[in-house]
Amino acid sequence: MNRTIRDIFATFIRGGIIQYLDLEVSQTKASNYLKPEPADLDLAKLIIDFYHASKNLENSSPLKRTLGPSNLWSNKIEVNHKNVLNACLNYDFKELAQILKNVYRSQSTLGMTYPDAWNIPGSSFHRNVFSKLRVTRTIMGYKKKIAHSSNNELIRELFELLENDFGNPMRIDLLGKRVSFEAVYHALILVDLNQIYPIKDLKGKNIIDLGSGLGICLSLLMASSQDIKCSFVDLPENLIYASWFIHNYCPELKINHGLHGKIYDDECDVNLIPYVGIENIPNSKIDLFINTFSLPEMEKKSSDAYFKYISEKLSDDGKLFSFNRRNTLVHGKGTVDFTMIGMQELIDESGLFHLTKEVPIDESFSQNHDFAYPDTNAQIALFEKN
Ligand SMILES: C[S@@+](CC[C@H](N)C(=O)[O-])C[C@H]1O[C@@H](n2cnc3c(N)ncnc32)[C@H](O)[C@@H]1O
Repeated sequence: MNRTIRDIFATFIRGGIIQYLDLEVSQTKASNYLKPEPADLDLAKLIIDFYHASKNLENSSPLKRTLGPSNLWSNKIEVNHKNVLNACLNYDFKELAQILKNVYRSQSTLGMTYPDAWNIPGSSFHRNVFSKLRVTRTIMGYKKKIAHSSNNELIRELFELLENDFGNPMRIDLLGKRVSFEAVYHALILVDLNQIYPIKDLKGKNIIDLGSGLGICLSLLMASSQDIKCSFVDLPENLIYASWFIHNYCPELKINHGLHGKIYDDECDVNLIPYVGIENIPNSKIDLFINTFSLPEMEKKSSDAYFKYISEKLSDDGKLFSFNRRNTLVHGKGTVDFTMIGMQELIDESGLFHLTKEVPIDESFSQNHDFAYPDTNAQIALFEKN
């Protein structure tokens, strides 16, 4: 029997069955709602104001036509964010606070990346045995990698932060902590980044996560490092979550929501910027752009325009960290309903960047690379300006 298949079998027999049953139990628990604490209400009010200001900015900006979301993303948002958006539109801050407090468990959102969708009632992953098997396998993969790297200081540090795990219903026990799958995944992306851009070298630097999604990755990075400035750039709908996570992971930071006239404020530690506000970021000031599973999912005209912005905003020795599909083919099956042009193809066509470093996929912490999911098309890479 091939070694990889043997490995997978062994993993399942060693603990996968228990892990699978554990998922079942936590999925049932996930449908329970927690009560919000009063402390969340002020943040919910702020987030609702921020959402409306971001939508106004988006709707009045000519950039919406070039940079705006594809149908894929508009549809995804409509379905996955329905409850959150209704709460914002109705100025129902109590409801928003309650949903955000339970962000990992309620029918609020997620579905941004594959692992999280499994616990959303009604999602294609929910109650789907195969998706739960995939989740089980991924958790077992994480357990194995983490056990082998038990002396990895960064992993330990990040797991200390994950203990906060706001609203986490899932019982994934790793390194003696009960952590959320979604947050572990983002923490491990940082461990991948650290292999080609040491996180300690980010001291004093200015970072942007473009298409930051829930914002967990950058929030964890900010919480684990000092003296970094950062910006989240995304659609107004996803910045709702970024605001929630950065406030919870880094309550002491000065965070700008653009509500006082400045879309980008140099004086603040953190800027939350609706995508059409990207032009307000000063040129040549950014040391690192992060882009994970995002640029290739946009319309080609949007990603082309974003590449120009990235190259303008980056300092001369700035870097672009990309974790995306390398080529257009998706798992050898051709394109799916997304645009999904490979990142390397987009980069080559732009003529603006070149590859400097890569993490081999079998050395990645966040990705599984095995018989069941031979994702040879994932590229974890650092690019520099030409
Ligand atoms: C697959 S998610 C990845 C999120 C996050 N980077 C992660 O790894 O979990 C893609 C992200 O791109 C954002 N996005 C899609 N179209 C966009 C656009 N035209 N401009 C800015 N962000 C966009 C989505 O809102 C979403 O947050």
